Amino acid sequence: MPLILTRDNVINVLEMSDCMNVVEKAFTEMANGTAVLPLRINITPPDGLSLYMPAYLKEMGALACKVVTVYKNNPSKHDMPTTIGKVLLQDPETGDVICIMDGGYLTAVRTGAVSGVATKYLARKDDGQIAGIFGAGVQAKMQLWAAAIARNLSKAYVYDISDDAAASFIAEMSSKLGIDVIRAETPDQILETADIICTATSSPTPIFDGSKVKAGTHINGIGSHTPAARELDTEIIRKSKVIADSYEACLKEAGDIMIPIDEGAIDKSHLHADLGEIVTGKKPARSDDNEITLFKSNGLAIQDVATAKLVYDRAIEKGIGQTVEI
Ligand SMILES: NC(=O)c1ccc[n+]([C@@H]2O[C@H](COP(=O)([O-])OP(=O)(O)OC[C@H]3O[C@@H](n4cnc5c(N)ncnc54)[C@H](O)[C@@H]3O)[C@@H](O)[C@H]2O)c1
Repeated sequence: MPLILTRDNVINVLEMSDCMNVVEKAFTEMANGTAVLPLRINITPPDGLSLYMPAYLKEMGALACKVVTVYKNNPSKHDMPTTIGKVLLQDPETGDVICIMDGGYLTAVRTGAVSGVATKYLARKDDGQIAGIFGAGVQAKMQLWAAAIARNLSKAYVYDISDDAAASFIAEMSSKLGIDVIRAETPDQILETADIICTATSSPTPIFDGSKVKAGTHINGIGSHTPAARELDTEIIRKSKVIADSYEACLKEAGDIMIPIDEGAIDKSHLHADLGEIVTGKKPARSDDNEITLFKSNGLAIQDVATAKLVYDRAIEKGIGQTVEI
């Protein structure tokens, strides 16, 4: 009988550091050839977008599919959220669905976790670094949480065009992490001070001037993931060592990478590695403290599948959730 896990159940059992561990293992499986990761399937019904994200991780024994929908008229027409997601976790031995869980919080944590893993391998190693977060929404909070696990941060800056979003971010994250979280008045304030930058906005156009990013910075770019939208300008892509979550996703979905290629500023070989190659040591990470490293995240189903298996195992251990006969 499948186990049903609500959003609150998922929040109850899912911790960022555990999620970073399983996401790192998932990228190791991708590099070692034991992960099956078909490209996301997109269907566009008249009112929205429906995405199907399946994957299988052999070593982890994790098989699942996330279904995510983005329906922009949901709030006004149906009093429902724009983005809704559920994960169906299967038993790889029988194929049967053993758990259906909410996918909203899980998506945010796994998106933070992959940036955390990238930061662990790519950022400079010194203590007391400063994080700068662009965007103050759901994903941005998880980006800072993960950065604070990957490195010992002295403080963080946040820049958002919304006063309310920035205020809520500062209140929640300063108490959660126990560090000073300060509102940046301009994007430049982050570029001048931050050692680790995360971009997690809904902007379809570049949010800062890449020529001003200082040497030695590490950047996680997670916000845009369609060919025509980008948060990062051509200059920051050109001058960084770029690591993809997946080459294929970056070359087919990411405007941050595809637009500079279309402009002729870079070619495909500018992608130095994917994250699996970095965590398994197949390709070198940062070469020195002056290099700018940039991780481009599009969001892969292996992150969802690894995280869903973790959530299921923890829920079983704690006796959380409800089983139903289908
Ligand atoms: N890479 C992935 O795996 C992944 C996963 C989930 C979501 N996302 C993407 O992450 C982005 C953020 O998602 P969210 O759920 O946090 O959205 P959200 O709406 O909660 O937050 C986005 C924030 O960006 C701010 N913003 C917009 N333009 C800005 C600008 N120019 N400068 C600074 N702030 C700006 C908005 O005011 C808002 O507070 C979206 O583009 C989403 O599609 C990526």
